[in-house]
Amino acid sequence: MTSSAIAIVQLTRPVLAQYLADLLELERLVVAELGIAYDVHPWGVPEFELEVPSKWDFSWSAVDTATDKAVGCLVVSRFGDNLHAHRNIVHPDYRRHGIASRFLEHHFAKAQAAGLNYFTAQVPYDNRASRDWYLNRGFGLLKDEGLAWYMDARGSTDENARDHLATPEGQWWVVRYTISDYTPPA
Ligand SMILES: CC(C)(COP(=O)(O)OP(=O)(O)OC[C@H]1O[C@@H](n2cnc3c(N)ncnc32)[C@H](O)[C@@H]1OP(=O)(O)O)[C@@H](O)C(=O)NCCC(=O)NCCS
Repeated sequence: MTSSAIAIVQLTRPVLAQYLADLLELERLVVAELGIAYDVHPWGVPEFELEVPSKWDFSWSAVDTATDKAVGCLVVSRFGDNLHAHRNIVHPDYRRHGIASRFLEHHFAKAQAAGLNYFTAQVPYDNRASRDWYLNRGFGLLKDEGLAWYMDARGSTDENARDHLATPEGQWWVVRYTISDYTPPA
């Protein structure tokens, strides 16, 4: 696999319909790999198809052009003037080739053109590798007032545990990127 064989395409509703079987299989693979360090509520068809604000404008899929299979996705929704990641996954065989970083480049460029403020993600507490993946890409870890802003903006009733969110179901890191900070690669 060369990264040039991977196309990053906007995940519109018709694109989701085309690649839904691949993305469901990918979800199953990552659940088998990470369990609750991925999500306590794995996605099926209803979650992939769920209508949430601006989802079809700001979500992305990676397609292997040699096989015409989807090998990753970044699924996003909008809250206020901000965006939030619901899924950011790349097939294990395709990792460490910069695919998820390419999702972010497409995503930030589009979000910046739309004048949006922040891009956030919630990462399970036990998934430090993914938390650090975000931190290595310019995201900040929300704490105290930052978490209070996030909870208020998203209508969250979780507990603000100073540097993470806590619920009876589990704990999450929250990371946030300031979209105006984005500069395209030279
Ligand atoms: C997190 C995840 C989406 C990253 O996807 P990815 O496409 O492998 O990400 P990238 O290739 O952009 O970056 C991964 C690493 O490969 C390195 N890398 C990027 N391009 C590379 C290349 N061409 N050759 C070698 N390494 C490369 C990057 O430096 C990065 O390492 P770092 O984080 O230590 O700096 C993927 O690991 C994943 O699906 N994890 C499981 C699901 C999950 O936990 N998602 C997040 C839930 S909140």
